[in-house]
Amino acid sequence: MRLKDIFVERALERGIEKIYAPRLKKSDPLAFLASQIASGKISLYKPKRSKRLCITIYGEIVEGIPDAYAGRGDEKAILDKNDLIDLSSHFPYIVIDCSLRDIHSQKELVSLDRQIRKTLSVVRKFMWDERLVVTAFNSGISALHYPSTEEFLEKMSFEKVVLLDPIAEERFQGERAECFIIGGIVDRSGNKEGATEKIYRRLEKSGIDVERRRIELRGDIIGVPDRINLIAEIVLRAVLDGCDVEKAIYLSQSRKIARWRLRKEIVKESEKVDINGRKFRFIRKSFFKDVSGWLKVNEEDFYRCARDMGIIVIDDSLTPKRLKVKPF
Ligand SMILES: C[S@@+](CC[C@H](N)C(=O)[O-])C[C@H]1O[C@@H](n2cnc3c(N)ncnc32)[C@H](O)[C@@H]1O
Repeated sequence: MRLKDIFVERALERGIEKIYAPRLKKSDPLAFLASQIASGKISLYKPKRSKRLCITIYGEIVEGIPDAYAGRGDEKAILDKNDLIDLSSHFPYIVIDCSLRDIHSQKELVSLDRQIRKTLSVVRKFMWDERLVVTAFNSGISALHYPSTEEFLEKMSFEKVVLLDPIAEERFQGERAECFIIGGIVDRSGNKEGATEKIYRRLEKSGIDVERRRIELRGDIIGVPDRINLIAEIVLRAVLDGCDVEKAIYLSQSRKIARWRLRKEIVKESEKVDINGRKFRFIRKSFFKDVSGWLKVNEEDFYRCARDMGIIVIDDSLTPKRLKVKPF
């Protein structure tokens, strides 16, 4: 359940269906409204009884007399932060640990900053600003900031903390935790392989109990987006929406990332044959259908990847056996 769902329930309990919320231009306006209320930036108040363009609790824009006005006011609110926060215990904290910022180039730091901002947008779709924690980096956004992850964890004394780490032994299966840590690491230059493990070793040395989990797609991390904001999105979809991890990855996957994995799958699936002493690689055409349910690729990507690798796409009826050629 997302914060937005709690907000809708609470509003309906109070007979609020139409809300006048000026300047609300967001892709998910109800989620944004809920996150702004939970952060205490705005509340719902009794409105003036004149016709307005309103957002309904079902997400439609209609003209009508609003049941509530969203903004700031001195009068008593009809729905505020306290109405949402008391049901918030199941929402996890997302920590972006930027303690390794010194191993980044200036360009990578700009990208890190951008990814942190995008993570805030993701967090607002599911929760609210104060559920995002940035450590060892001053991002200037309205998330919580701490000098170190250790300080934050010591203050909160959580029971279960998970560090997302691509080389962890255990696989993330959508299990809940009070806090998920993502490495504030951008892989654009140099070799930062294993950098997340350094965060783990440091936390371990400080006596902090953290579990590590790898997000994988059908046995491999290739095909899993590695941007910080997308990792946060996958985790929140799995934990709060109850979405299957594979589906959550698919929803956050770009075609470019999907193509990387497709190439690997095509190589694995292709057959090598020898025709009159010349060696060829074939892949059956229907293989595209097998992968298109879990990799975000289209038919054009399939043909392009096969062609780039010199692999010939053949009709399923033309298997090497039918072609009377021998595999090698
Ligand atoms: C760009 S990745 C950096 C990975 C780094 N090169 C390494 O090998 O540890 C940024 C962060 O996203 C998270 N991440 C990326 N891919 C992941 C995966 N497949 N499983 C778990 N966490 C992942 C990790 O928290 C990681 O620190």
